[in-house]
Formats: sequence, C-alpha cells, structure tokens
Amino acid sequence: MSKGRYYITTPIYYPSSKLHIGHTYTTVAADAMARFKRATGYDVKFLTGTDEHGQKIERVAKEYGMSPKEYLDKIVGEIKELWKTMEISYDIFIRTTDDYHERRVQQIFQKLYDKGDIYKSNYEGWYCTPCESFWTETQLVDGKCPDCGREVELTKEEAYFFKLSKYQDRLLKLFEENPEFLEPVSRKNEMINNFLKPGLEDLCITRTSFDWGIPVPFDKKHVIYVWLDALSNYITALGYPENEEGDYSKFWPANVHLVGKEIVRFHTIIWPAMLMALDIPLPKKVFGHGWILLEGGKMSKSKGNVVDPVVLVERYGVDALKYFLLREYSFGQDGVFTNEVLLNRINSDLANDLGNLVSRTITMIEKYNGGIVPKPKVDGEFDEDFKQVATSAWAKVEEKMNNLDFSNALEEIWKVVRRTNKYIDETTPWILAKNEKNKDKLDTVLYNLAEAIRIISILIQPFMDNTARKIWIQLGIDEGPSTSWEASKEFGKLETGIKVHKQPPLFPRIDVKKELEELEKLNKKNAKKEEKKQKKESEKEEKGEITIDDFAKVDLKVAEVIEAEKHPKADRLLVLKLKVGDETRQVVSGIAQHYKPEDLVGTKVVLVANLKPVKLRGIESQGMILAATAGDKLTLVTADIESGSTVS
Ligand code: MSP
Repeated sequence: MSKGRYYITTPIYYPSSKLHIGHTYTTVAADAMARFKRATGYDVKFLTGTDEHGQKIERVAKEYGMSPKEYLDKIVGEIKELWKTMEISYDIFIRTTDDYHERRVQQIFQKLYDKGDIYKSNYEGWYCTPCESFWTETQLVDGKCPDCGREVELTKEEAYFFKLSKYQDRLLKLFEENPEFLEPVSRKNEMINNFLKPGLEDLCITRTSFDWGIPVPFDKKHVIYVWLDALSNYITALGYPENEEGDYSKFWPANVHLVGKEIVRFHTIIWPAMLMALDIPLPKKVFGHGWILLEGGKMSKSKGNVVDPVVLVERYGVDALKYFLLREYSFGQDGVFTNEVLLNRINSDLANDLGNLVSRTITMIEKYNGGIVPKPKVDGEFDEDFKQVATSAWAKVEEKMNNLDFSNALEEIWKVVRRTNKYIDETTPWILAKNEKNKDKLDTVLYNLAEAIRIISILIQPFMDNTARKIWIQLGIDEGPSTSWEASKEFGKLETGIKVHKQPPLFPRIDVKKELEELEKLNKKNAKKEEKKQKKESEKEEKGEITIDDFAKVDLKVAEVIEAEKHPKADRLLVLKLKVGDETRQVVSGIAQHYKPEDLVGTKVVLVANLKPVKLRGIESQGMILAATAGDKLTLVTADIESGSTVS
C-alpha cells in the first residue's frame, strides 16, 4: 500500500561536460531522498534534466563549429553518463529541447498572455550573458553582475514582460504564512528584505538578440527568456498544460524543489508568481542548499584538489562519495572541500566504523560458529540498551530526512554503528569463546551483532545501495521482507542457521599521505593537459576562427609548373610559370632553398588563385602556392589531377 506520492526535483543543469562534485551535490541529495521515500512506501517521481536554451549555448556551440543541437546531444550524453556513474535513480530526465517541453512552454506563454499577465513593451537594462539574467541599475554591484561579478551589457529592445509586480503582495503573504515554503529560514529573510520589500519590477521574459530559444507562439522573432522556459520544466515534465489528467494530477504540487542557494530567487519569487498567474498550486517547499567551496573560493576554479566526480568514484567508489557529500556538509550551509577531508572521512566512518564492524562480525561467526548464524539464547547485561538503540534509529532517521537534514540522518545511523562496535568491546566474544560454558552467551552476542548489521544495512540503503547489498551477501540473506524498511524497526528478523560469506573489506583503508601524493601527481598531469589545451585554444584565437563562408572566399586551384627559374634579385625566391586550366600565371615563391627550379617542372601544385597580385623584389606574383613546413623542412602541397581543378 502506497503511503502517498512524492515529487522531488533537482534544478535542470546547464549543459557542461565539466560537472564537478559541487554540481553532483544536488543530485546526490535528491537521489538519497528519492530512495528513502521509495523505501518508506511512497510512490516517487524524481526529476532532473538539462537547461539547454540561451545565448551562451548558441555561442559555445558555434565555437565548437557545431549546431546547438549537435553540441547539446554530445554534452547531454555525457551528463547522463555521469548520473549513471553516480547511480542517480531519477525517474524523468527532461531536456528543454524536448518537443513536448517546447510545445508546452508555448502553451503556458499563451495562457499568461491571454490572461493579461504578459504584455509587450521596451526593455532597457543590464544583461549578464553567463547568468542569462537581467539586472536593474540598482541591483548591480560595482557596475557588475551581482550573482557572478562579471561584466554586464546595456541592452534596449522590444520585449514581452511578465507582470511580476502584480504578485508582490501575494508573494509576501506566501512567505509570511508558510514558514516551511522556503528553507533554511535565513534564505527567506534574504528574499523578503533584498527583493520583495524593495519592490518587484515586471520581468522581461523574451529576447530578440539571439535565436536559440523557444519562439513566442504568436510573435516568432522573440524567443522566450530562459528562466521562464527552464522553470516550467517542473510541470511540463508531468504533462501540463496539455495533459492535466495523468502524472500532473498525481504529482503536482511538488513536495520539494532542491536548488543551490544562488537560484533560490528564481524559485521562490519568479516561479511562484508564474504559478499564481496560471492559477495552479505552488510547490510545497523549496530548499536552498549551500555551496561546496574550495579553500580559495569557487569549485570551478579548482587547482590543488581533485574535484572530478568520475575520478573520485573510480578511486573510492560511488557509495563513499555519496556518503561523504551528505555526511560532511550541513545541507543548508556552505562547506569547504579538500581531498584530505574526504579521505579522512572515508577512513574513519566507512573503513573503521562500518567496514570493521562488518568484517569483525563475519570473521567471528566463521571462527566461533563455523560460519553459521547461531540462535540467540540468553539476554546479557548490555543487550537491552544495545537493542533499543538499534531498533529506534529508523524513527530518528525518518525525522531528520523529512527535514532534509541528511548529515544528521547519517549521524543517527552511525550512532547504531558505534553502539554495535561498543557492544563487541563490552561482550568480548573472543573471551567468551575460550570457555564452552559461555557458548549460549556467545551465540547470543554473535546473533545480535549480525542482526544489528542487518538493521544498519537497511538504514544506509537510501544513501549507499551497493554497500547495503554487499552486506546482505555477507550475511547470506536476499533482498526481501528482512531487508525492507519495516524490518529495521524490529530485532530478531534475521533468520538463524544461515551461512555467512566473508568478502573483501567494504571500504579498504586508505593510506592518506600516499593517496594525497598520488592525487597531486594526477593534478599535475591534468594541469599540464589543461595548459596544452589552453595554449592550443589561444593559438586558435590568435589566428581568429573563420566560418565556412570565409573559407569559401578562397579560390584554390591545381596548377602545373611549366617553367621555373631563380629570382634575379633574391636567393630565397623562385619565379614560376604556372598553367591553370587554359590560363598562365606567374607566381613568386619562397622555396628556392628547398627545390631546384628544374625539378619543379611538371609538378602539380595548389594555387591560391584569387590572391591580390603583389610585386616581390620587382617581379609580380599573381597568387601563392601552398606548402607545408615542419621546422626547417618544407614540402609543396601537390595534387595529382588536371591543372585548373578546384580544390575545396
Ligand atoms: N540551469 C540552472 C537551473 C535551472 S532550474 C529551473 C542552473 N544550472 S547549474 O548547472 O548551474 O546548476 C545546477 C545545480 O548545481 C544548482 O543547484 C547549483 O546550485 C548546483 N551547484 C553548482 N555548483 C555548486 C557547488 N560548488 N556546490 C553546491 N552546489 C552547486 O543553475
């Protein structure tokens, strides 16, 4: 029986092939929440995707010489690959270039227009291209974008506006009457004091200066501003407005939108105003989580630390990375990442606390009871407290998770892990094993340990699915009634008489010093690669990229050398007579040190035929022939085809 429905979203990501662990933070959190809700009996929809329109994408694709869609397909493929590596259990992956989304955004635009909440006017303001954001003069900080600190451009154009100001009072009321709408509370005050109280201006929601966007349905020279397009994804993905009967009726309003703190403004002011205008319910909650930073600042500027999630997963496993991200940082606040913090956390919590507990328990069952889980016989003096800690954890985990307090949810589980390790110290099974008289006591302790591990495995499953499954293999149990969330509430569910299977350590201990050295080497290697890449890029920039149209202006022809002689006044130059189809040309070329004149006759070379004639040391040159150079070496580009043929 389903406990109800639960709709959780991450923001849709800007397509970038360089997503770092900061980016994965939102998806990892949403994934843990989605898995937790599924485990506790909810019918879950977990949405993520990509935000693919806007001037920036149009520009970057051009730089790569690709069409936007071609470029996007490649990058989106990489993002999906990353989510696969991170084992993100999303139910819907929406792309804002999906047909259905584009169509539904147009329908939403039309609805708002018909209602009178969208009108046409002139826009004059400051635009930050990287952030795709418009700013008023007063919002700028030192004349720059208040979000990213980069240059902004003064823009004036005809545009459509959304009547955001109309919703000012309703938004204030929303914040005042629904303290749970935006969390953490500190962000709520920021929205009220920095944006709502000073007064909202209507929002420019279309652009005419670029094409890569969804056209306004009734005025095709305008494309819809990316935020209106992007925010709508949360409902278009469910069918709105075309199909309000299906998933939309089941899952809207969303239970929670997880977003990074820098996009809280869009999600708690613009988005609710849009929904109010559409007359549909608002999401129940927006949670603005903190940023993961590096000591020197933003993660995108990473220097000394490895922040590539793929590398980290390869080295330590996806469960370790997920655990670390959710345990180390308090979800609402910023935190600082270093490789050292990561490694120490893996060692202390995963290799030591959890890994050792499992491995010691299985080893003792093998050693003292032939690998068979014994029947518990007599309760010992420590059992009551220990069992109570193990069987009451689920409620605390649920409470913390429902508050999106991932770190403390994990802490509650680790209280059980640590209590179980303490139970081993209290009961000293290795001493009990020395005397046959204590067999009943020993059996009870071994059973209790295995049973506590079963409970722990259930509780960690939303965060670390692989580890939970590995524990079940070691305990000799299958996924089923004894591994359900319900089964974490009771002691004694583990069958007796089953055989345990010792496996390699769940989390091998890391030699931190050595590993940090390795990571540094890796960083240096990557830095070199990056340097090379940047050098190449800047060389490319120096030459200036040309378009296919620029290239088409160059008339390249195959030409046969019919005469060649030394230039009377210059040692380095040869004077060549060329046959180009029916025409004859004279070209002066700087190849005298590489070719003897007599050897050239009969060679078919490539001529730039429409180069403006110039005089070289007194002799006219009507074009230029192509040659390749490598250091001191030079070789003419030749073509074995009739003279006069076009080279393209
Ligand atoms: N496309 C917009 C969202 C539109 S939603 C209708 C966007 N995309 S993003 O790719 O820039 O960011 C995606 C998510 O990654 C955001 O939640 C953002 O906060 C998060 N993070 C990016 N860098 C981060 C850190 N260094 N730390 C934590 N989260 C960060 O914004």
